[in-house]
Amino acid sequence: MYAHCLGTDSLSNVRVTVCRELLPAGAGPLADRFELVRGGLDADRERILALVAGAGAVVSDPTVDVDSELLAAAGPQLRVVANFAVGTDNIDLEACRASGVTVTNTPDVLTNATAELALGLTLAAARRLGEAERDLRAGSWTGWDPRAYRGLELSGATVGVVGLGRIGARYAELLSGFEVELLYAGPSRKPEAEQRLGARRAKLSELLAEADVISLHAPASPATRHLIDAGALRLVRPEAVLVNTSRGALVDLGAVAAALREGRLGAAGLDVFEGEPAVPREILEAPRAVLTPHVGSATVHARDAMARAVAENVIAVLEGLEPPNPVR
Ligand code: DGY
Repeated sequence: MYAHCLGTDSLSNVRVTVCRELLPAGAGPLADRFELVRGGLDADRERILALVAGAGAVVSDPTVDVDSELLAAAGPQLRVVANFAVGTDNIDLEACRASGVTVTNTPDVLTNATAELALGLTLAAARRLGEAERDLRAGSWTGWDPRAYRGLELSGATVGVVGLGRIGARYAELLSGFEVELLYAGPSRKPEAEQRLGARRAKLSELLAEADVISLHAPASPATRHLIDAGALRLVRPEAVLVNTSRGALVDLGAVAAALREGRLGAAGLDVFEGEPAVPREILEAPRAVLTPHVGSATVHARDAMARAVAENVIAVLEGLEPPNPVR
């Protein structure tokens, strides 16, 4: 094991490279034990590749591509890539496996935060809060109007959860007070969740056709890329609300913008965007869209807990122990 090879004293010479930024809750414990270097939020690829050279641990985040180039730049002493996120689509897991590098992530601690944001976006999009607030601020509110801003009532609606994993299931749980009908789609049956939440498994095409709200909670992978594209949008109800707090790659933004413009989709609440932080003009200009800048896990509680989990994972691996959150 690494610690056995090095001896505990030598661990203080081990470099831990934070490619961009890590909050004090995680950076503190790491700086106490290791040589900690950080790239900063504006670190570009060149700087990151230079900073990882010689590192025993690399802390990445969803904006950092961890691929063979980065692994080669780091060198053979690299033991762990600790992602400051639960999603690991930024990491070439196969390349890490081949190089004997452990990958870790931060599950569970952001489940509530992300599910709560999904609920917030569901309500905001369903009730057209984005445009209502924009109009009010722009001074274009002319008074109470029985026809204005009529949206979808969540109580009693049919909600389709795509991906009933940790976050999808928590989102479904939070909806229980609204007495919704719950559908879910995903690669495997979830008998426990079916029983506890009263959820019914459906084929994606059925879910898209039946749901008033479609909320995406699946990881990004080649199989889920553009899961919501022009073809999928042809199946949805014209008043349906689409919510995405998972990964931008799941949604073809051009197709969503067109469906909103043409009245084939009721509303959208989107927190993640393919190619972010760039957000295409057509989605910025689309009607009935509530857009937030990838803030699913952005609560004080969740982000601190994520940072602590990063540190615990790095420390465990560098000390030769099994990390709490390995990604297999
Ligand atoms: C994650 O953890 O994958 C999130 O997208 C970061 O907030």
